[in-house]
Amino acid sequence: MLIQRPADIPSSEITPPTIYARRREFLQMTAALGVGAMLGVGMRPISATASTATKISSLQDSRFSTDEAPTSYEDITTYNNFYELDTGKSDPARNAHRLKTRPWTIVVDGECDAPGEIGIEDVLSGFTQEERIYRLRCVEAWAMVVPWVGFPLGALLKRFKPKSRAKYVAFETLYDPTQMPGQRRAVLDWPYVEGLRMDEAMHPLTILSTGLYGELLPGQNGAPLRLVVPWKYGFKSIKSIVRISFSEQQPPATWNLMQPNEYGFYANVNPEVDHPRWSQARHRMIGEGLFAKKRPTLLFNGYADQVASLYAGMDLTKFY
Ligand code: MTE
Repeated sequence: MLIQRPADIPSSEITPPTIYARRREFLQMTAALGVGAMLGVGMRPISATASTATKISSLQDSRFSTDEAPTSYEDITTYNNFYELDTGKSDPARNAHRLKTRPWTIVVDGECDAPGEIGIEDVLSGFTQEERIYRLRCVEAWAMVVPWVGFPLGALLKRFKPKSRAKYVAFETLYDPTQMPGQRRAVLDWPYVEGLRMDEAMHPLTILSTGLYGELLPGQNGAPLRLVVPWKYGFKSIKSIVRISFSEQQPPATWNLMQPNEYGFYANVNPEVDHPRWSQARHRMIGEGLFAKKRPTLLFNGYADQVASLYAGMDLTKFY
């Protein structure tokens, strides 16, 4: 997600602070060990740091988890895209304290027989909270593996009894410039909105996340409730949701509205469809350090067995 052209981007935004920090660590270690000892040795993500966030009780393990090693808590919570909390990767963590996540209500309306609203406490107690370790791919050729806590989006949607003519689900983020300083500038057309086709929304891989690493979501990751769609680029995973609406027509999606030739409605991870300004064929894992080799990107982010059938017969170069 970049609006700025390279000339406008401060170097602090090109290299994430965590990688600066590792470069310092690297220089110190090479000085201590000798360069030869370090070359070829991949840097392991640092382990989850202790945090003050509230633990989520009675967590269940999910059968949908990847067995890849999770990215560190520190990287997951300090390298973020959440433009409401500003556009630098480290800004959301700095500004997250402004976001008030209690009380919090999600309105569910549109083409359904039981429109209504649900408070976040009822979401937390009313749906089984599972831990699912997913690989999330962002569009700028980077990825993380996140131990999300959440539950299938479909379980919540069913409660509101969607009508058969509901073909899509639309999502909307809180609009409140007093809490979200980024919304005071027209960087995006606020509020942030996203959408899924009904079958994508009901797919068991699609979750509403309430936490990560066994704790309630930090603000910068989209507290108190955000979407996670592991076979799509990160921008589909809308944060801090306040409205979910069933609709007959394809709903608007923020990045698709802003730059339709760069960001499609579907946004399925696809190594064969390049972003006009960069290749999508390989990606870097956040936390692996500057010298780690880029990895080949897999169709549907490695979830093809589960989701390829949703797109049978569609030209994925057209519906990107
Ligand atoms: N949701 C809102 N409301 N605002 C945003 O700017 N950024 C998106 C997505 N959800 C965004 C958002 C993008 S571009 C990405 S890559 C993911 O959030 C990043 O999620 P993470 O910070 O938890 O890794």
